[in-house]
Amino acid sequence: MARYAYVNGRYVDHREASVHIEDRGYQLADGVYEVVGVRDGKLIDEKPHLDRLDRSLKELRIAPPVSRKTLCFVIRELMRRNRLRDGLVYMQVTRGVARRDHAFPTTPVRPSLVLTTKNTRHLGPDVGPGIAVRSQPDIRWERCDIKTVALLPNVLAKQAARESGAYEAWLVDAKGCVTEGASTNAWIVTGDGELITRQTDSGILAGITRGTLKSIADKLQLKLVERPFSLAEAKQANEAFITSATSFVTPVIRIDDAPVGDGKPGPTARRLREEYVRFAEAGETVT
Ligand code: PDD
Repeated sequence: MARYAYVNGRYVDHREASVHIEDRGYQLADGVYEVVGVRDGKLIDEKPHLDRLDRSLKELRIAPPVSRKTLCFVIRELMRRNRLRDGLVYMQVTRGVARRDHAFPTTPVRPSLVLTTKNTRHLGPDVGPGIAVRSQPDIRWERCDIKTVALLPNVLAKQAARESGAYEAWLVDAKGCVTEGASTNAWIVTGDGELITRQTDSGILAGITRGTLKSIADKLQLKLVERPFSLAEAKQANEAFITSATSFVTPVIRIDDAPVGDGKPGPTARRLREEYVRFAEAGETVT
């Protein structure tokens, strides 16, 4: 079956999909992106993802390339053409193609819009065996709230984690606190059963899964505190887990060389994963 990508108004063969070499995304990382999870043909949290895309664009003063209505249509059309049941929709907007100059182009350019889809395995309510994380210094800029394609520090941190046998990197700031993962938000559960995740400010990405999980935790009457937590505190925690559009809720069973709790996925992460999958199941079927 042909796999399609959407590039600036056209559905094209994924193998041949391309943008110009002077696209500012390619040359200067002058662009933003979004990843929306798809489960059983249903988009998860589409609206908050598109709201965050709008916000990222606004922060960088890039005009939305198409209307919200058109973007929603393109997402569905690409999913339909690619028969996407489980996986993700990736969308990227850059400032467009212009003669290379760090400053914004002085003549009007059309922002570039690219969408692709990716199949992944079906994620169910079972959390699986859990993952290991490796701490890495957080060397990113001070606007991590913007979901830009400038991901080199995240790439290097993730690679270092993988080379050490861990699945994800936990980024640690100058004060010794965990900010977030290379591509996920970070959570712990304390000995008192409190859920802790870092507050959202310009130091981390306000994850959409994180936001949904806050509502779920509230519904389950779990005590949630949004505050910084140190790497040392995380290593002493009863449980730890990550959240993202592609990992849902996934337990962390090891931080560096220390097991978290008894080294097995804990009850809070299990419960939150079940509830998150229930939430995902309630969405509108697209394909
Ligand atoms: N990553 N923090 C960072 C740095 C991220 O890149 C992501 C998402 C998250 C979680 O956000 P959300 O719950 O909205 O997916 C947190 C996506 C999945 C990616 O880059 O592929």
